[in-house]
Amino acid sequence: MTSFPYLFSCQNMPVFFFLVCIGVTDAGMVALGNGLSYLQSLDVSYCRKLTDKGLKAIAEGCCNLRSLHLIGCRFITDGLLQTLSKHCCNLEELGLEGCSNITDTGLTSLVDGCRSIKFLDVNKCSNVGDVGVSSVSRACSSLRTLKLLDCYKVGDESIFSLAQCCKNLETLVIGGCRNISDESIKSLAASCHSLKHLRMDWCLNLSDASLSCILSQCRKLEALDIGCCEEVTDMIFNGLGSGGFQSSLKVLKVSNCPKISVMGISILLESCKSLEYLDVRSCPRITKVGCDQAGLQFPESCKVNFTGSLSEPDVSL
Ligand SMILES: *[C@@H]1O[C@H](CO)[C@@H](O)[C@H](O)[C@H]1NC(C)=O
Ligand SMILES: *[C@@H]1O[C@H](CO)[C@@H](O)[C@H](O)[C@H]1NC(C)=O
Ligand SMILES: *[C@@H]1O[C@H](CO)[C@@H](O)[C@H](O)[C@H]1NC(C)=O
Ligand SMILES: *[C@@H]1O[C@H](CO)[C@@H](O)[C@H](O)[C@H]1NC(C)=O
Repeated sequence: MTSFPYLFSCQNMPVFFFLVCIGVTDAGMVALGNGLSYLQSLDVSYCRKLTDKGLKAIAEGCCNLRSLHLIGCRFITDGLLQTLSKHCCNLEELGLEGCSNITDTGLTSLVDGCRSIKFLDVNKCSNVGDVGVSSVSRACSSLRTLKLLDCYKVGDESIFSLAQCCKNLETLVIGGCRNISDESIKSLAASCHSLKHLRMDWCLNLSDASLSCILSQCRKLEALDIGCCEEVTDMIFNGLGSGGFQSSLKVLKVSNCPKISVMGISILLESCKSLEYLDVRSCPRITKVGCDQAGLQFPESCKVNFTGSLSEPDVSL
């Protein structure tokens, strides 16, 4: 596919484009960039052959671009982010999962021009660290979703800057960011009361001190994953229900948290009637028999996963 002749007949519509990626090349992207100045949304995820060359033509030709998804386009570099910054100041959504050549320098130049970003996914971009994330937080105060899965260089400085600048944050993924500590998570809990989805599995340095704050202060929280946070205990549930508030939690994942027991789950259930899924795989102190013996009453529609293998995926946040 090297050109898109049929596109030129629909001049007046905003165009949303999703390409099935068989044979999509840089040459095809150049044709799109030259022909579709009104393009608003492009998803070329998994078009693994694409490079900066084709996508820069999109950025230069399509200044109305609001949403760009490039999952797995591993040849993309900071150069593309610089071009987006110059030409696409309305960009709101950028998906870069697995674009591992992206660095802090690229993110910093991106938000120089693109200050309306609400959704940024840099999952598995392992060169991204605190300098880049802090630039994004400072420039994009309307950020709603930030995904940093396995960005192991990301630490407290990133979380402090989010807490300070991005009060409307709703979804945060920091699974595998092992260098994040209780201090910054406490400040996140105190500032970001809009949080609904929080994935922080494998944050091995976190303890009850911060996770209890998340549960008691982020009252809109609907989904929380603290799987493999090995230090956490039943104490994290103690602040729930303080002042009689009902937790909004629908999904809670505490797989492989060996110190959490049936006692903790019973405290949880007292103030959480909306629970739909509880993941307690590989929690030796929580078994079906133990829950039955303690007389725990799960909400009617709640699924509890006691025994699935951790190496298989279950519901994902
Ligand atoms: C992208 O990163 C890989 C290593 O991860 C490197 O070999 C390659 O040269 C980089 N590509 C560009 C265009 O910078
Ligand atoms: C983790 O944080 C410490 C300081 O808090 C820093 O010295 C260290 O380099 C960080 N590790 C990584 C992998 O970034
Ligand atoms: C977090 O890391 C610090 C510094 O390495 C260490 O002193 C502390 O015990 C760790 N906390 C947890 C809960 O692992
Ligand atoms: C529990 O997790 C396993 C994966 O380990 C998954 O296959 C299964 O569907 C889950 N069970 C429920 C009830 O969600």
